[in-house]
Amino acid sequence: MKQFLIVLFLFSLLFSCKKDERPYVPTPVVIKKPNKIYADMIIPADNPITEEGVLLGRRLFYDPILSSDSTMGCFSCHKQEFAFTDGLAMSKGVTGEFGKRSSMSLVDVGFFDNSLFWDGRSPVLEDQALRPVEDPIELHQKWPNIVVKLKRHPTYPDYFRKAFGIKYTSEITKELAAKAIAQFERTIVSTGVTKYDQYRNGNVDVFDDDELDGYYLFFNASSFLPDAQCGHCHSGALLSDNRYLNNGIDTVVTLEDFKDKGYGVTTGNVNDNGRFRVPTLRNVMLTAPYMHDGRFKTIDEVMDHYISGGHYATNVDPIMNQLRAQKKISKIQRNQVIAFLKTLTDTALINNPAYKNPFK
Ligand code: HEC
Ligand code: HEC
Repeated sequence: MKQFLIVLFLFSLLFSCKKDERPYVPTPVVIKKPNKIYADMIIPADNPITEEGVLLGRRLFYDPILSSDSTMGCFSCHKQEFAFTDGLAMSKGVTGEFGKRSSMSLVDVGFFDNSLFWDGRSPVLEDQALRPVEDPIELHQKWPNIVVKLKRHPTYPDYFRKAFGIKYTSEITKELAAKAIAQFERTIVSTGVTKYDQYRNGNVDVFDDDELDGYYLFFNASSFLPDAQCGHCHSGALLSDNRYLNNGIDTVVTLEDFKDKGYGVTTGNVNDNGRFRVPTLRNVMLTAPYMHDGRFKTIDEVMDHYISGGHYATNVDPIMNQLRAQKKISKIQRNQVIAFLKTLTDTALINNPAYKNPFK
């Protein structure tokens, strides 16, 4: 009897779980650095990028199967035409409620190696991708429900098999889904051919006069012009030094008074309250409204904040104190900085078919 039951069990495994014996041969994807000013992307050893993984991840990214009412997905708040932001001050979830933060660009996100989100609360993309789904004011769904739907789906099991070499549909997990999404995200990389990149690559004639002066002001690169201070924080290939800082947008009496404590909640250190990720400024003309809560509607408002020097707090970055003390940037120079910011728009990326909705 016992043997019979075991045989029955083995048979049921064989037939119900659709064991797949086809060979698992994924095609590796090498992420090319946009140009020499970029550092190498760090890719977790347990999640190498493959064509099959990216294909699956892209489908999941654009599939409303991830939301409670099948209307939304990652794509709802990360739209290619806005450099993968949503054009809103604060993002709106499936229930119509607004969250407290502004969506972030996913361009070059694989190069951000000092945690993710405005407050740095997620260590890596594989962890990050799990979070919007169960956030009540984002996708408001439960992963076990999604996993059930993916297992029953006519095509997803095969995509998972090709991406991760699983043999049984039952092996589909939320962790594998997140890995695939992370692989897709790591492919969203700048083309490296913006005017700014061309200039950095040695094509010094590419900027017009205003753009060039804007560049000098931004990076304090000319002794004839004042320092607009931007490049001390928005530095390098990403136009971000990858730190969490207070750029003086709030007036507070004590460090406990920030409405959104940001990085301080992540670290538990009061001195980190009111600090937020220095965001990339690539494609900044497409990512309004600005700051973690979208408080500035236009780039002019952003510039007015910076040239006024912003508000003092004990943990405001010292560079902001310098800006407040100097107040040297003229109206013309302010507009030249904006002219420079416009050279950061990556039109080829925004139109790249590889990132478009695969269901359309
Ligand atoms: C309801 C809108 C919304 C949805 C849906 C959404 N996001 Fe986001 N995303 C945001 C907001 C808002 C932030 C910033 C949140 C914060 O810092 O607290 C963010 C931040 C991120 C970041 C961090 C980027 C960085 O540089 O640190 C990544 C990556 C990301 N989202 C990917 C995804 C993925 C993948 C999905 C789908 C599984 C998704 N998002 C679904 C609104 C959304
Ligand atoms: C002391 C460091 C620092 C300096 C100097 C600085 N920034 Fe920022 N910048 C930040 C931080 C931090 C944020 C995010 C703050 C937040 O959301 O609360 C930010 C946000 C921004 C944003 C919003 C981007 C978005 O996606 O929402 C823009 C635009 C910007 N900065 C442009 C500039 C310009 C232009 C200058 C020079 C005039 C400048 N910054 C100087 C640290 C700095």
